[in-house]
Amino acid sequence: MEPKLLLSQLATDTLQGLSSNPKYLLSKYFYDDEGSRIFQDIMNMPEYYLTDCEHEIFSLQTEEITKAICPENKLFNMVELGSGDGLKTRILLKYLVEKAINFQYTPIDISAKANHELVQSLKTELPALQVEAKTGDYFQKLKNLNGHASIQKIILFLGSNIGNFSDEETTKFLNQLSAYSNVGDKVLIGFDLKKSPAIIMDAYNDPHGHTRRFNLNHLVRLNRELDADFNLQKFEQQTTYNPQSGEVKSFLISNGEQTVQIGALEKEFVFEKWEAVFMERSRKYDFQTIDKLALNHGFKVVQNFTDSRNYFVDSLWEKIT
Ligand code: TRP
Repeated sequence: MEPKLLLSQLATDTLQGLSSNPKYLLSKYFYDDEGSRIFQDIMNMPEYYLTDCEHEIFSLQTEEITKAICPENKLFNMVELGSGDGLKTRILLKYLVEKAINFQYTPIDISAKANHELVQSLKTELPALQVEAKTGDYFQKLKNLNGHASIQKIILFLGSNIGNFSDEETTKFLNQLSAYSNVGDKVLIGFDLKKSPAIIMDAYNDPHGHTRRFNLNHLVRLNRELDADFNLQKFEQQTTYNPQSGEVKSFLISNGEQTVQIGALEKEFVFEKWEAVFMERSRKYDFQTIDKLALNHGFKVVQNFTDSRNYFVDSLWEKIT
């Protein structure tokens, strides 16, 4: 009998994705150190409107957001899922601290490094802020917090992170969010809105080559970490937008028939000429869909904070059942 390989999560997921028809790779593996740097380049492109929109919302509507999220004169806990460098949240945190509002901030992130840097910089910038970062799985951490039912929570899930989920993942995420919220708790979720496809394609269809680099970096990672031999020249990157589903999808496409060896899997994979590997989705929403999502999971929309161009919304929900 062949000895069984002990596979890492990356190896198992890669095996599953490349053995599927159609092939896919999981977008969570984009974000190694180099991938995170390239994503910064994407976010800094003038065409990538998402960064500016949410920044504008937090800068120009700080007071309105504060009014809407703060329970009157009561301590509350602001929990952020996937806080990263907390760039947008910082604007709100600063305002709340200046107004001497009684709250604590609990950023939850999968990256210990990001958490550490966030806490260090907040200590210097806002010494009066009560902050306790938690590293690990969102829902494991939320579950623990839910024990303190007397303290109202406001849970932030910003960016358009929710747009990267499939429908199934969205349902699972919102079910869990609902399970770990109490009636009266609030959530603030960032959604990218449907808009002219031309604007979306300008942001996503790679005007500066960063999206191609971002996608190819995934293959570089497989070459390095799984001893694979992907030839980067043999893949093209393509983005599509479907205005009905609202889905932007990113693909790597094999420009010839080829075989790729993956050492760590002791396996080879055939790519047909023009075969596409699905890499990532970024869904765009309309208000009707957002309302439905809230109601289907025990929440109601309390207020929508949009930017001046109506490209993006931070939607505030309250748990009602
Ligand atoms: N989270 C980013 C977004 O949804 C990721 C991203 C950048 C992306 N470029 C992409 C997703 C191209 C799909 C296609 O905007």
